[in-house]
This record gives sequence, structure tokens and C-alpha cells, in this order.
Amino acid sequence: MPFHEDELEAAESGHLRSLTAAEAEGDERAVEAALRPKTLDEVVGQARVRAQLGLVLEAARQRGRAPDHVLLSGPPGLGKTTLAMIIAAEMATPLRLTSGPAITHAGDLAAILSGMNEGDVLFVDEIHRMSRPAEEMLYMAMEDFRVDVVIGKGPGATAIPLEIPPFTLVGATTRAGLLPGPLRDRFGFTGHLEFYEPHELDLIVHRSAGLLGVELRAEGAAEIASRSRGTPRIANRLLRRVRDYAQVRADGVVTLGVAEAALDLYEVDQLGLDRLDRAVIDVLCRRFGGGPVGVSTLAVAVGEERETVEEVAEPFLVRLGFLARTPRGRIATPAAWAHLGLAPPALPTVDGTLFED
Ligand SMILES: Nc1ncnc2c1ncn2[C@@H]1O[C@H](COP(=O)(O)OP(=O)(O)OP(=O)(O)O)[C@@H](O)[C@H]1O
Ligand SMILES: [Mg+2]
Repeated sequence: MPFHEDELEAAESGHLRSLTAAEAEGDERAVEAALRPKTLDEVVGQARVRAQLGLVLEAARQRGRAPDHVLLSGPPGLGKTTLAMIIAAEMATPLRLTSGPAITHAGDLAAILSGMNEGDVLFVDEIHRMSRPAEEMLYMAMEDFRVDVVIGKGPGATAIPLEIPPFTLVGATTRAGLLPGPLRDRFGFTGHLEFYEPHELDLIVHRSAGLLGVELRAEGAAEIASRSRGTPRIANRLLRRVRDYAQVRADGVVTLGVAEAALDLYEVDQLGLDRLDRAVIDVLCRRFGGGPVGVSTLAVAVGEERETVEEVAEPFLVRLGFLARTPRGRIATPAAWAHLGLAPPALPTVDGTLFED
């Protein structure tokens, strides 16, 4: 096969972290578009949100009206954009797409809203990042299907009311807590997306392999699923890397052995921990006796910025129950010790405790 060893090496050395990052990056969104479920029935997992949303849409269809506004919240890569597109597809209406950061002035929003037709779906991604004036205009549009467009400045300014045909707003946010109450209250339905179970990710990996034309064995799929941190985006990404490996170093078939070898090469371990995650618990257990130790100290010890440790590594470690954040600092749980193959200390280290100033 005309594939050079150094190409694989380049792939190996770069982007180790990004393999397990939940956020999409670079041209990944284009790749993802091909793997997105197109109907509610194709969506794997999220049974509750799917049932609730299905009802909202079906009822609206029966009444011949635009469905209530929908808010989708949850961590990156769990399917918010996918569901927004499905809402428009299920209602057989066009989807207009924008995002909070793109709406810097209320005028930007007025321009979008005035171009809407009855029943259109307006998808506002990262809705928590919209500017205040735009947010206030949106409240009014959501409730009364009307906005006031202000023309001119100062004492001569006049507000011109503008009618908007009934539409459905679909907002997506990774930070529902940052949404002001009045905005949150104007959504008729909020779907909170949860992390996926391994058997659900397993189905997703099979489905994606089918779409990508990858030959995949059941054990290979299960291995990818179990290392995907509950996140379909990561599952799809790991599948693409395992496929590379299968193609270059094996006969193209993703078996258990191929999946294990590929993911070991990319330093994604059995639970989906990457090099940084492991460094954090390793340092915490081996060097600081399991803590408590301050996050700044921990960051220095692993050679990373404090923010990186706090925002990138810790959330997943906490979710796994490997690390606890206490007022006195971070501590490793017995599960973390076990994952490293170590026995936790018999007694908590009282005098060895490190405090953060
Ligand atoms: N329930 C699902 N079934 C199958 N594939 C899914 C599902 N949810 C998400 N995916 C896949 O995961 C990828 C990421 O999903 P999506 O872009 O919808 O996530 P998101 O929640 O919008 O993330 P972000 O917060 O980064 O915008 C998509 O390519 C999609 O194919
Ligand atoms: Mg999205």
C-alpha cells in the first residue's frame, strides 16, 4: 500500500488531545454532516428527549401550526445541532441557522427575523452568547411574534413595530445555567441531552461504519464505544482513526485487536482517558499521595496551564468518579488508584496535606 510510515507518524504526534475533546474542530463539522441522523427515528439513545420532542412535533403537525420554541441543552457533541436539524426536517420546513456570537446587534436579529416565513425554524446555536439587546428583542419575538425596530438615535429615534410570521425558535446551549430566566421561560419545551450509554454508542459506531463503508466487527465496535466518553462525536472520531489504522496496518477490517492497537497508539485508554487525564491522576496518586492538593500545584506538576487541567481534564475525571474537588484541594478516589493499578493508601495522609494559598 502506498502509504508512508512518516505520514502515520505525523498523525501520531499531532492532536493527541483533540482526539478525546468533545468540541468539534477544524473541518470536522463537514465530516459530521454525513453522519448526522436525519429523522427522529434514526436518532440513537436520548429516549426521553426523543419521545417528548416527538410528541411536541406530532401535536403541532396535527394542529397545522408551528411547534413551540425548543431549547436543547447539554454538553458538546451529544446531538443538539442534529436534533435542531431534525426538527426542521420533521416539520418539512426550512431551517435558518445562526449563532449567539454572530448576533452582535439587535439589528442583526431583526434582519434575520424579518426574512422569516410562517413555520420556519430558526436555529440559534450557543444562544447563551447572544448580546443583551438582541436577547431582549428575541423575548418579544418569541412571545408576540413582533419586534420593535429602532430607527435613528437620541431624542429623534422612533420604534417601528414589525410583525413576524409565527416561527419556531430552536436554541442550543452547552450552558443552560447562563441563560437569563426570561429567555429560558419562553421556550415551550426544553430537552436536556445526557451522556450516552456504551450500548447506545455501540449502535452509533455501527451506523457510522455503515455510512463510511468501514467493515467492523462487533468487538471492535464495542471497544470504540467504551472509550468514547459517552459522546457520539468522540465515538465517530475514534472510529475514523481506527479505520486509518485498519487500512494502513491491517487488512481494513476493524476487529477487537485493531481497535485496541489503534486506540493504544493514540493513547486513549480503556475508559477513554487520554494522556493528560492519566497524567493528572498519576501525579495526584503517585506524587501527592492521593491529595488533597491544590489545582495550581497539580497543573505545574503535569506541566499544563491551570485552566487546562480544570476545564479539560477534570470534568471527565470527576464524572468518572476518579477525582473529587474539595475545599482543601483535589483528591483521588479509590477508583482512580485502582485504574492505575495501585492500592490506595490505608490512611488519609494528614500531615502530608498540601494547601493552596
Ligand atoms: N443520537 C445520535 N445518534 C447518532 N449520531 C449522533 C447522535 N447524536 C450525535 N450524533 C453524532 O455526533 C456528532 C455531533 O453531534 P452534534 O453536532 O449534533 O452535537 P452538538 O450537541 O450540536 O455539539 P456542539 O455543542 O459542539 O455544537 C454528529 O456528527 C452526529 O452524527
Ligand atoms: Mg452543535
